[in-house]
Amino acid sequence: MRYYSEPDGNPHFDLKDGYKDRYIKRDESVKEKLDHILRWILANRSKLSSKWRPQPHHDVDFVTWRGHLTKLLTTPYETREGWLLAVTRFRNTLYISEVETEAARRELENRTERHQEMMYWGYKFEQYTCADNVHSSPDPGGVVNTNEAFCTVVQTRLADHRLLFSGEVDCRDKDPNAPGPPACYVELKTSAEICTPKQRSNFHRFKLLKWWAQSFLPGVPRVIAGFRDHDGVVVTVETFPTSKISHLIKSEPNCWKPTVCMNFCSDFLTVVYLFSYEPHRDVTYSVHRDSQYSFLPHWYVRELTS
Ligand code: A3P
Ligand code: MG
Ligand code: MG
Repeated sequence: MRYYSEPDGNPHFDLKDGYKDRYIKRDESVKEKLDHILRWILANRSKLSSKWRPQPHHDVDFVTWRGHLTKLLTTPYETREGWLLAVTRFRNTLYISEVETEAARRELENRTERHQEMMYWGYKFEQYTCADNVHSSPDPGGVVNTNEAFCTVVQTRLADHRLLFSGEVDCRDKDPNAPGPPACYVELKTSAEICTPKQRSNFHRFKLLKWWAQSFLPGVPRVIAGFRDHDGVVVTVETFPTSKISHLIKSEPNCWKPTVCMNFCSDFLTVVYLFSYEPHRDVTYSVHRDSQYSFLPHWYVRELTS
């Protein structure tokens, strides 16, 4: 975990610096699935409640990555990228792991050189603003290694669903008196400078939705954004408190709403399987996430989840 080091009022961070000679890039062809989370669960069984001991009692409904949940949250507003999620049940816990879509694979293969370089920019910004420990300063002359990351593990609830998920955290507050995790965590972002009303509107509609969904889930209270010019130089840095993001966008007509995201995600996790048999045919099933086929009454669910 690194420490956030506030830049001075007039930054000039060249995000292109070091791309050619000081960049160790994670091998994206390696699909790690849920492996790191599963290892974490095994290593921390004693810390977790009885469910993770080898007994037939479970109080986590879903295990997944934060990033997968972010995708679920933003689905009601997503018009460009689809997803594939594989779900498997083991001892009454559902494990959700993403599968690469054909479109995502093609996109990965056809990335332009410019796009490849721009992916580096976000990590380079982290290097300009993060120190290795409380008393040191950021080292922009160092190597950017995207194999390195700190992940937090969160147990929380979304409506009736008990979730255990893990997500990467960029850095934390330097102040030793800062509140404990996740309140001391900071998410770093970069974005293109906003020069026109159209750009501002797009930023509110698309970027802030993604930023909110990502940080809201693990309770990261601050998103710190570096705004860069076309040449990849960060010229301003601005803080977005996660809890205020949904108010910021209210001036935007027909904009996204946090409740729509959360209701969608919650409904998704409550899917009903409808099995069907017609004589002389195979048994088939369909999956429904509307309430039409839901049959567990509220009084039952409430009693068992309180
Ligand atoms: P930015 O989001 O500032 O562009 P994160 O912000 O989630 O911690 O991710 C860190 C950086 O990883 C991003 O910084 C971006 O540079 C890169 N990155 C993450 N996901 C990406 C994706 N799907 N496509 C391209 N770059 C990505
Ligand atoms: Mg990150
Ligand atoms: Mg980040």
